[in-house]
Amino acid sequence: MLNFNFQNPTKINFGEGQIEVIAKEIPADAKVLLVYGGGSIKSNGVYQQVIDALAEHTYFEFSGIEPNPKYDTLMKAQEIIKAENIDYILAVGGGSVVDGAKFIAAAALFEGSSENSEPWDIIAKQAPITKALPLGAILTLPATGSESNGNSVVTRDGNKRPFSSPFVRPLFAVLDPTVTLSLSDRQVSNGVVDAFVHTIEQYLTYSVNGKVQDRFSEGLLQILIEEGPKALATETKDDLEVRANIMWSATMALNGLIGAGVPQDWSTHMIGHELTGAHGIDHARTLSIVLPAVMKVKREQKRGKLLQYAERVWNITEGDEDVRIDKAIKLTEDFFKTMQVPTRLSDVDLGSDDIELLITNLESQGMTALGEHGDITLEVSREILTQAL
Ligand code: NZQ
Ligand code: ZN
Repeated sequence: MLNFNFQNPTKINFGEGQIEVIAKEIPADAKVLLVYGGGSIKSNGVYQQVIDALAEHTYFEFSGIEPNPKYDTLMKAQEIIKAENIDYILAVGGGSVVDGAKFIAAAALFEGSSENSEPWDIIAKQAPITKALPLGAILTLPATGSESNGNSVVTRDGNKRPFSSPFVRPLFAVLDPTVTLSLSDRQVSNGVVDAFVHTIEQYLTYSVNGKVQDRFSEGLLQILIEEGPKALATETKDDLEVRANIMWSATMALNGLIGAGVPQDWSTHMIGHELTGAHGIDHARTLSIVLPAVMKVKREQKRGKLLQYAERVWNITEGDEDVRIDKAIKLTEDFFKTMQVPTRLSDVDLGSDDIELLITNLESQGMTALGEHGDITLEVSREILTQAL
């Protein structure tokens, strides 16, 4: 196992009816900015629950954060933060809203190193964050793990870029599975697939004998394989037990626990971000296209873990090594198809002519040495995208 430091201070409030706890989680004298997206929280009753819980607080609102949140949108929140002396951010929504709120919280206190500094430096120059407004999250879409990690992804001019800081990790998160019942099948699928790929990015690398991390990851993958299809099936889609297990799995998949002390890949995500940036494809749907191709192209480097994955996650014990690996990759693709997400570039009407732009964009972002070995060069990314055609 590798050395690691692990601390996750986000307090999780899990279960039906937990939104009301924000009344106590947020300091009584805070000036709160309630941040949300395009309005789903108004139609599913979440907004009303939040407003009721904030009855004793002073709060203002900032809405309109779009999926794959845009820098220009997020910067508009700075006006109200300054005008009203906001000192607490409450994000209510999916990963985009929580990520957007993190950027808003960091940008509000960003000083920069010179008078030409701007908050975009947090992302473009990975400028150090030394403080941020305190942040809490009410999660409405289980997928990203953003509710209890320090990561955020922001888009500017088609460039989708991540940043990370412990200062933007939510102080608390409310996870009420009932609020996920209003999600469309597409968003449910996206969430399950995103959480699945987060687990894979931290698991399917090479063994360092991290037994705890491996068994946790294998458990999460099996839960998502079992429960994901149930959340789409007519008879079980409203089952709160199913929703609860998916929600907690998605949080656990990217709250730092399974990735501590093990190598991590993330090449599927980095290549996927270019697909979203250039073509607007939903985040999870880029992952379901890229991951099977990464498994195929990096098969030799990942051989040991692919065999472990085949045996422990898919119960494949028959056949020689290559047969078992082929079967595991095939079952992964079949799972994605069951979850109704694309597994090929052709499924989203992209072809070989579209690959060069993605490679150019990877290059301009410095994404030239991806993966757990840093050996996914632009040439290998091209091979992966070609494999995904
Ligand atoms: O904007 P509203 O009206 O709220 O609608 C949203 C949005 O249209 C809707 N929605 C959310 N909760 C709902 C709901 N509709 C009905 N009922 C509910 N309960 O769903 C749509 C998609 O929401 P979004 O937040 O974009 O989805 P998701 O949670 O999948 O977040 C995706 C973003 O997170 C980033 C992605 O790159 C992408 O920008 N990621 C963040 C990560 C992190 N912070 O650690 C890691 C991930 O790998 C990922 O990159
Ligand atoms: Zn993701």
